Amino acid sequence: MEGTIRISDITATKRSRRLVMVTATDEPSARLADRAGVDIVLVGDSLAMAALGRRDTLSVTMEEMIHHTRAAAAGTRRALLVADMPFGSYQTSVADAVRNACRLVAEGGAHAVKLEGPRPAEVAAITAAGIPAVGHLGLTPQSLHRIGGYRVQGREIDQALALVEQARALDRAGAFLLVVEAVPPAVGAAVTRSVTIPTVGIGAGPACDGQVLVFADLLGLSEPPAPRFVRRYADLAATVRDALERFGRDVREARYPGDDECYPDPPGLTERLASLQEAD
Ligand code: KIV
Repeated sequence: MEGTIRISDITATKRSRRLVMVTATDEPSARLADRAGVDIVLVGDSLAMAALGRRDTLSVTMEEMIHHTRAAAAGTRRALLVADMPFGSYQTSVADAVRNACRLVAEGGAHAVKLEGPRPAEVAAITAAGIPAVGHLGLTPQSLHRIGGYRVQGREIDQALALVEQARALDRAGAFLLVVEAVPPAVGAAVTRSVTIPTVGIGAGPACDGQVLVFADLLGLSEPPAPRFVRRYADLAATVRDALERFGRDVREARYPGDDECYPDPPGLTERLASLQEAD
C-alpha cells in the first residue's frame, strides 16, 4: 500500500483540489492512467461497451468484473482502484451486496467499490464490512429501462431536490465519494455543496470536486457519437488504424521484417541449410 492514494487522501481533497478519475479495463489502460498521475482508476461496468462490444452495461457479470479488475490491479501502483458492482450483484439483498463487494476486493484486488442509485443501506453494510464505498447518482445506466434511456436527470425541481436528498443519505451512510452523472450544472453544484464527501462529475458541470471520463472516450477509441460531455484528448482510433494499415502494406510488399529486425544467422548455417536443400 506504500505510495498509494488512501481514502483519507481522497476525502481530504474536498474544497482543496480537484480529483481526476479515469476508467480502465485492463493492465495497459490502468498502468497508463496510473503513471499519468490520475487519482482514481475506475473499473467501470462501461467496459461492457468499451471492451466487450455490448449494447449496455446490464449483462456484465461478477466474473467479468473480477477478471477486468484483476487485470487493472496489475497495472495500478499509486492510484486508488475502484471497481463497479455490476447489475444484479447488489440489488437482490444487502447480504449479496456485501458478499459481492468482498469478492471484488479479495479476488479482483479493488480498494473500493461503486454502486449505482440511492442505496444507503447497502453502502452502510459494505462500509461496515471494511470496504470503502462510492455512490453514483443522476443517470444510473443500470436503471436504463426504468429511466427510459440515457437521459439527463434532475431537470425538474422535485427530481433535483430528490437527488440532493439521496446524496445526503449516501454521505450519512458512509460513502467516501459520490459520482454524479448527466445532470444540469446547477444540480451538480447543489449536490456538491450539500455533501461532506467529494463529488466526481461526468456530465454534471464544473462545480463537482472532480471529473471522470471513460478511457476509450477521452482517447478517441470509442465509436462516435459520444455523449455531449465527452472531450476527446486524442484520436487514437485514427492513429491505431494508420499503424495497422502501414504494417499490412509493409508485410504485403515484403518490407517487413528488415535485416535489423531478424536474429543474425550463426556463421556457416546458411551454407549448411542450402546444401541440405541441394541434396533433396
Ligand atoms: O462505468 C463507468 O464507466 C462509470 C462512469 C461513467 C463513472 O460508472
